[in-house]
Amino acid sequence: MKQYCLILAITIGATFGAPHRGRIFGGDPAAPGQFPSIVSINNPDQFCDGSIISKNWVVTAAHCIDAITSTTTIVAGTNLAHSGGTTHKVTNWFNHEDYDDQTLINDIGLIQIEDEFEFDDVTQPTEFVDPAANATCTVAGWGVTDVVDFPEELQFIEQTVYSFDTCKSFIGDDFTEGQTCAFAQDGKGACFGDSGGPLVCEGKLAGIASFIIENCGAGNPDFYTKPIAYVDWINANIQ
Ligand SMILES: *[C@@H]1O[C@H](CO)[C@@H](O)[C@H](O)[C@H]1NC(C)=O
Repeated sequence: MKQYCLILAITIGATFGAPHRGRIFGGDPAAPGQFPSIVSINNPDQFCDGSIISKNWVVTAAHCIDAITSTTTIVAGTNLAHSGGTTHKVTNWFNHEDYDDQTLINDIGLIQIEDEFEFDDVTQPTEFVDPAANATCTVAGWGVTDVVDFPEELQFIEQTVYSFDTCKSFIGDDFTEGQTCAFAQDGKGACFGDSGGPLVCEGKLAGIASFIIENCGAGNPDFYTKPIAYVDWINANIQ
């Protein structure tokens, strides 16, 4: 099965194989502070999301890192794509050394901002949690919806985490212990522009939106990198 990463292809000028169909697809607008760790990554328009993990570091997908330049901005503390929150310049960004852009294995990267986030009700660092099979979790993002390509308001849906074996049955050998997958229902799911954004379980970061198969909301699970599988790599790199 072909993996389609969830970056907004328009931003990087790539030709995208999968048709647009869906949003965070079938989602609802988030409440203020519901996802206090989410940030948008902008070039200058939002093309990926990430999660705050410390005063000056954000974790995202490696394929989002590939589109970052010195003029990319990180916006924290707002649910709106074009207002509120705080805007931060990037100073350092890199992929996992073993990221594979074909299989999307090790699809994780880090971004350092030039200044520091100020933590408050709508801006908080996240911890990591292992996504347990059958857990009900939530994915959020500003990606393409079934209504508009650029939603102004952050959207979210609930998803059920699948077991390792069920996830692997969709992908085969390209599915690793560093990944998970989750599903809501036909017509709902992550879509282009949701890349790098959070799958939240128990209020903590369980997944980083990585790729879909077929197209958005097509009745398949969405695939995520599990940050908890990369804690040593993260800690070694944000020193
Ligand atoms: C998840 O749910 C399925 C179906 O109800 C069940 O067979 C399985 O044992 C559950 N797994 C866990 C880890 O709870």
